Amino acid sequence: IGRVGVTIAIDGPAGSGKSTVSRRIATELGIGYLDTGAMYRALTWYALDRGIDLADQAAVVAAAGRMPLTMDSDPQDPHYFVGDTEVTGAIREPRITESVAAVSTNLGVRRWMAGEQRRRMLEARDRGSGMVAEGRDITTVVCPDADVRILLVADSEARLARRALELYGDTAPEHLEATRRQVQGRDAADSTVSEFLTPAPGVSVVDSSGLSVEQVVDAVLALVDDDLARR
Ligand code: DC
Repeated sequence: IGRVGVTIAIDGPAGSGKSTVSRRIATELGIGYLDTGAMYRALTWYALDRGIDLADQAAVVAAAGRMPLTMDSDPQDPHYFVGDTEVTGAIREPRITESVAAVSTNLGVRRWMAGEQRRRMLEARDRGSGMVAEGRDITTVVCPDADVRILLVADSEARLARRALELYGDTAPEHLEATRRQVQGRDAADSTVSEFLTPAPGVSVVDSSGLSVEQVVDAVLALVDDDLARR
């Protein structure tokens, strides 16, 4: 396989820069892009829209199977629809960010998501079109057989600054503080279902602390070329 057919799994915590980097990699290589976090967010939106109690685990799993989700995964400008409703903006709203852990800690949901996400990865591989998928469990559960597997990490200050920039557009002290409270809560919730801060065997760690987006993208592309050369 060449760069074009490659499957790449990228995991990392909030603020590691994995979305920005994954989208850039997909664009550079001309391959597909799958944001698995967006799928958990879309299911959260859908369940709330239908008035489903997120604590009713079986009902949320059933909703996943019924959800008419369409993802147009242009890495430069991804759009998400549930039925005819565009949810691209809505799934990033605080009310979804605050509720998504109730969905992503639902083990039935995780099983359904992993199956769906894996199917998309393997389809891309079979078509020879390639894909980069980003999330928390892509290197371990969804696609442990991806051609290239990367855990993107960053120290807590770097993660905080990135999140504050995303949320508030600057890194003023009060914005750093507000972001600190959100990020800590979410990572605590996430780590109950996936040990994403420890690389599984065979997974390469890239530390993005203090690196520019360009530098991280270059580091990831170097790993892709290394892994492909070894085949
Ligand atoms: O990366 P994000 O913020 O869009 O992820 C949204 C939520 O979904 C977050 O709580 C982590 C969770 N998630 C997960 O558990 N597994 C994944 N593969 C992707 C996201």
